Amino acid sequence: MTDPQIVLTERVQQALARAFGSEHADADPLIRPSQFADFQANVAMSLAKRLRRAPREVAEAIRAELSDFPGTVEVSGPGFLNITLDDAWIAAESGQMLADPRLGAGTITPSQTVVIDYSAPNAAKEMHVGHLRTTIVGDSLARLHEHLGNTVIRQNHLGDWGTPFGMLIEHLLDIGEEAAVAQLEAGQGTEFYQAARAKFDGDEDFKTRARARVSTLQSGDPATMRLWHLFMDATVRYFNKVYDLLGVTLTDADLAGESMYNPMLQKTCDDLEDAGTAEMSEGALCVFPPGFTGSDDKPLPLIIRKSDGGYGYATTDMAAIRYRVHDLKADRILYVVGSEQTLHFRMVFAAARLAGWLPDTVTAEHVQIGMMLGKDGRRFKTRSGESVKLTDLLNEAIDRATAAIADRGYDEAMQKEIAHAVGIGAVKYADLSVSHDSDYVLDFDRMLAFTGNTAPYLQYAQARIRSIFRRGGVDPATATGPIVLGEPAERALALQLLGFGTVLEQATALSEPHRLCAFLYATASAFTDFFEQCPVLKEGVEAGTRASRLALCALALRVMETGLDLLGVPVPERM
Ligand code: ARG
Repeated sequence: MTDPQIVLTERVQQALARAFGSEHADADPLIRPSQFADFQANVAMSLAKRLRRAPREVAEAIRAELSDFPGTVEVSGPGFLNITLDDAWIAAESGQMLADPRLGAGTITPSQTVVIDYSAPNAAKEMHVGHLRTTIVGDSLARLHEHLGNTVIRQNHLGDWGTPFGMLIEHLLDIGEEAAVAQLEAGQGTEFYQAARAKFDGDEDFKTRARARVSTLQSGDPATMRLWHLFMDATVRYFNKVYDLLGVTLTDADLAGESMYNPMLQKTCDDLEDAGTAEMSEGALCVFPPGFTGSDDKPLPLIIRKSDGGYGYATTDMAAIRYRVHDLKADRILYVVGSEQTLHFRMVFAAARLAGWLPDTVTAEHVQIGMMLGKDGRRFKTRSGESVKLTDLLNEAIDRATAAIADRGYDEAMQKEIAHAVGIGAVKYADLSVSHDSDYVLDFDRMLAFTGNTAPYLQYAQARIRSIFRRGGVDPATATGPIVLGEPAERALALQLLGFGTVLEQATALSEPHRLCAFLYATASAFTDFFEQCPVLKEGVEAGTRASRLALCALALRVMETGLDLLGVPVPERM
């Protein structure tokens, strides 16, 4: 383990145990970055209270036990321990990190099977901005878990079933199969839906046909099922276009739409009823998980069969959670879904625990996704008030990126590649860099800026490192050091890089990719300082210094590349 913060935590804990007894070995030493040293440990203050001793005295006692420490420890102020690591230690640790193919990131042991439910657009409508974020955050989590050695099972819980399909299929027949498929493939699902809806509301004959079609669909009538497949296949082809454009890792093998659970729904209800977990209430079959009450203080039902006998969203989710635990053998299930569904998932998880379908050994977590807002602070919409088509939004980002780099003199192919990476990267990074549960304002100017915590800034930093190697005619793989630290900026960069493994583990454990973003931003900033203050290729740079700085560049490049890849942000060769 190379992360200094972890090393320090262990060392200070050992010192605590030696100074005050083993009962203090697990105390949090409260290690924080410091303005006055590399880190400070604040544990003396809290411990002093418990021991009823003077904080400075406690701090001195800890310091005395840190005599073999690879750095200096000073007591300051009321009892802070200011810790500065030896350059030689930082250099040796970064040398080890450079030699480590995993860059200091461990693997999770024992490895887990993690089911990640993400993206999940609804087939009856266009894939909209709300699904952009669940797709992007979910995909980053999938990449992180795989990187740390977990088995990931992606589940794209498509909304591909329900009563609207009656009118959708009738509308498909009205306009003709070929025209319908073309429209759906082109991403005009919303228009298709709206046209069907208008007829349903205004045309009694159509309404009757649509209702009859729901029954034939539900009965599994082969001719109707063929039309449903036609509709779904065309729709999924459009979703795949969006996934391709975004560069997300979802494939058709990950499709696990609501319809997949149809054959299980009756048994889901029967088993819950037979076990006494569900009961009839006002004609509907309901689970009343303990601890959920409505505004009137009455127990809140999770309705799993409506009074008309129909199944709903909750029924499917009950079947799905059972399948994920029992068949997919999940240890951990992540639901990357909008935060407005919080109550739904809390109730589903509670009902599944009640039913014994979700044992204590398995965790189910709702990774709440906040809303994307327009500049007016309301849910993001077009001027005419409709929700925004995703491909339009992505293409706008690419167009703006094209304009931003137009004067850089790249040939056309290169320009296209960079604009794609920058535009898509900017949108994805903007989604990832704020905590997933907060709402955020979609602002092209900000996300495409070349300064600040943005994709272009990070992409530019890594491209700059590559250009050092290109200009020097050096293959980064051969830049093995040794690393020797002199200048403050190179020391700061090395110290920063050492935290990579820990941040990956934290981002994965907490489902918080924004931690990785913050880390990469700090890394890019540290590299920028280094780049400005520490010449690498310049004439007169001594051979040993050059080798060391090239090695630091190589390490920074691998950290940036690996980190951006785990976020799913494309990494252009040049910029
Ligand atoms: N299709 C749903 C929506 O757009 C999201 C599905 C999330 N996953 C689930 N298992 N319920 O709101």
